[in-house]
Amino acid sequence: MNETIQTERLLLRPFEEGDYPLLLKIARDPDTVKYLYYWGLPGVTPEKDASRFLHHALAERQKQPVTLFEYCVLLKETGQPIGEVSAEKYENGDAGIGWILLPEFRGRGYAVEAGRAMMDFSFTHWQETQRAVAYCDTRNGPSRRVMERLGMGLADIEKGARPDKGDGFRGDEATYVLSRVDWVRRKKSGGA
Ligand SMILES: CC(C)(COP(=O)(O)OP(=O)(O)OC[C@H]1O[C@@H](n2cnc3c(N)ncnc32)[C@H](O)[C@@H]1OP(=O)(O)O)[C@@H](O)C(=O)NCCC(=O)NCCS
Repeated sequence: MNETIQTERLLLRPFEEGDYPLLLKIARDPDTVKYLYYWGLPGVTPEKDASRFLHHALAERQKQPVTLFEYCVLLKETGQPIGEVSAEKYENGDAGIGWILLPEFRGRGYAVEAGRAMMDFSFTHWQETQRAVAYCDTRNGPSRRVMERLGMGLADIEKGARPDKGDGFRGDEATYVLSRVDWVRRKKSGGA
């Protein structure tokens, strides 16, 4: 399997040890981790978050078969690392996709471009997968917009399903879904 995925403007490749500085940058920005499920939990330092993520991503790649693909997102033109995207096969057969961008690279459509690649990867790599799903805190407007631009529809909102980030509040979780049938239909019509 070719480990690198190319899109119009981006290169997606598996994480490497040398990506720690990117992950630390993500972990150190309170605005970036605010709505992330596993990052910025009370009592966990950014250094710990970054190394936990990296070691988990590397370990998952060693499994057979791989059920979690974590990709470092780089700008094709400069090779600059700008974020992370993922595709994960869940036990129920769904494929979960996710994205994080450094703040200075937002507002240019990179998350949708990389997210679309993860959606396509999920449906082609896991032929039996019938649904691509994505989860976010309902307050995470930018992430919800990415999901909508990918053609996903809101399927569920679960009250209080997000973790308490130290302020005693648990946010609600939105679940967005795109079925394989609708993905094929969108592809045929030239959509995302
Ligand atoms: C979620 C996140 C990745 C979204 O990033 P983003 O920059 O808003 O998303 P995109 O890269 O797809 O950019 C879309 C925006 O770029 C604009 N844009 C500019 N040029 C564009 C182009 N060439 N193509 C497409 N969109 C373009 C779009 O209009 C859109 O703006 P809008 O949302 O204000 O309407 C980002 O907010 C983030 O990293 N947040 C922190 C981590 C996080 O919460 N991750 C999700 C966890 S569920």
